[in-house]
Amino acid sequence: MAVNTDTLNYDVEEMVRGDRAYIWHHIKPHKLYEHGEQMIIVEGDGLTVKDIRGREYLDATSGGVWGVIVGFGRESIAKAVYAQLKTLPYYAGTAGNIPGIKYAGELVERLPGLGKVYFSNSGSEANEKAFKIVRQLSNMDPARKGKYKILYRDRDYHGTTITALSASGQDERKQDFGPFLDGFTGFPHALCYRCGFGKSYPDCNIECARCFEDTILREGPETVGAVILEPITAGGGIILPVDEYYPIIQEICHKYDIYLIMDEVVCGFGRTGTFWGFQQYGVQPDMVTMAKGVAASYMPLSVTAVKDEIYDKFLCNPGDDCERMNYFRDISTYGGCAGAMSAALETLRIIEDEHLVENSRVTGAYFLDCLHSLMEMPLVGDVRGRGLFAGVEFVKDKKTRTPITEGEMDRIMGNVAAEGVLVGKTTSSLPGNNTIMNFAPALTASKNDIDRIVAAVKAGIEKF
Ligand SMILES: Cc1ncc(COP(=O)(O)O)c(C=O)c1O
Repeated sequence: MAVNTDTLNYDVEEMVRGDRAYIWHHIKPHKLYEHGEQMIIVEGDGLTVKDIRGREYLDATSGGVWGVIVGFGRESIAKAVYAQLKTLPYYAGTAGNIPGIKYAGELVERLPGLGKVYFSNSGSEANEKAFKIVRQLSNMDPARKGKYKILYRDRDYHGTTITALSASGQDERKQDFGPFLDGFTGFPHALCYRCGFGKSYPDCNIECARCFEDTILREGPETVGAVILEPITAGGGIILPVDEYYPIIQEICHKYDIYLIMDEVVCGFGRTGTFWGFQQYGVQPDMVTMAKGVAASYMPLSVTAVKDEIYDKFLCNPGDDCERMNYFRDISTYGGCAGAMSAALETLRIIEDEHLVENSRVTGAYFLDCLHSLMEMPLVGDVRGRGLFAGVEFVKDKKTRTPITEGEMDRIMGNVAAEGVLVGKTTSSLPGNNTIMNFAPALTASKNDIDRIVAAVKAGIEKF
């Protein structure tokens, strides 16, 4: 039987030429590729990836954008997907399929208070579904009439589409893509290191949470339907709100009947040392969105999970002319990929059987301790993190907290890569402050891996 496995056989120089000639790479200045050579990753095993030139790296980014949470080379995921693809690769989400039903059941068990899941295929799309639910209810539900606005927090990111960008608080990601949609309003971030209120915790009255209420009052509470938040801000610089923050936000949501949407696209599935990021803060969201780690990025899949009481609002009578349009009239072609759901089920099994949430918590604590030791070095202004998710903010002056330049940041990144470790950074996010290095290794990371990562960062700074 002839199978096209041609992608496993290639000529190196032909591929390098092809990459330069045809590929429009994501979120990097394209001009760079005219002279420099783009890294082409060809293999992965555990936390190690190999590039087309045969160089090996310890990948502290779980595949560049934090998705490959169980590490590379998982044969069991490949086998689960293979078996499902042979049996049934796809049928639209208008019908049911076995891995989807099983996976939804597993998720609901882990999401107390939420009872229904909606499948789609990217984090942006999962958030878009949540926004559409809010918007539709603001038109059709007498109890939520006119509550169409969605609030978001500065420095949070919720995706790449125009709607998801409208709900994102990163100026560089948004620049030149406007005009954005009406009904999306930002409020200040929750980063103590750069407190927008000029205060210091704990003598700050948690202004960053209280200003959420001011924003609602300015907008008109009768117009605000939801707030979307990353439990811990990821791409905006690894920001952990203080413990009091989310209970205040939750109370304000209850006061004005505003849905709390938690974007778990990055934080979900153990990244922060609890299964969900919001569990770090003991809050109860009304909707939860997830992607990246869902199927460990072996296959694309995203989910929007909602409380039963939200779903129930869409249970209209199709035979009633007044009601018949009041169901969620939405579809996502690739929300029907059964192979992706098999990958998600197997990912969940690995997370549970290998105790990866626990490993994230324990090894993550060790990681943070090690990173804190870097605070003695010049340039290291702040270290923050939770679980296997951490960031180091670089400054040229520790007192004034003036960030280093992007060029200087790139030099440090290059130095760390030269040590054989791939780390991430805030990229085209925050004007003048894309100087936060971030780390999100696979949840299988060992103390040895952490030692290697921290040693590489230290060497990268020393060589600066
Ligand atoms: C918190 C968060 N939400 C949503 C998204 C968008 O996900 P996707 O790129 O799959 O659309 C991202 C992407 O990085 C993210 O970090």
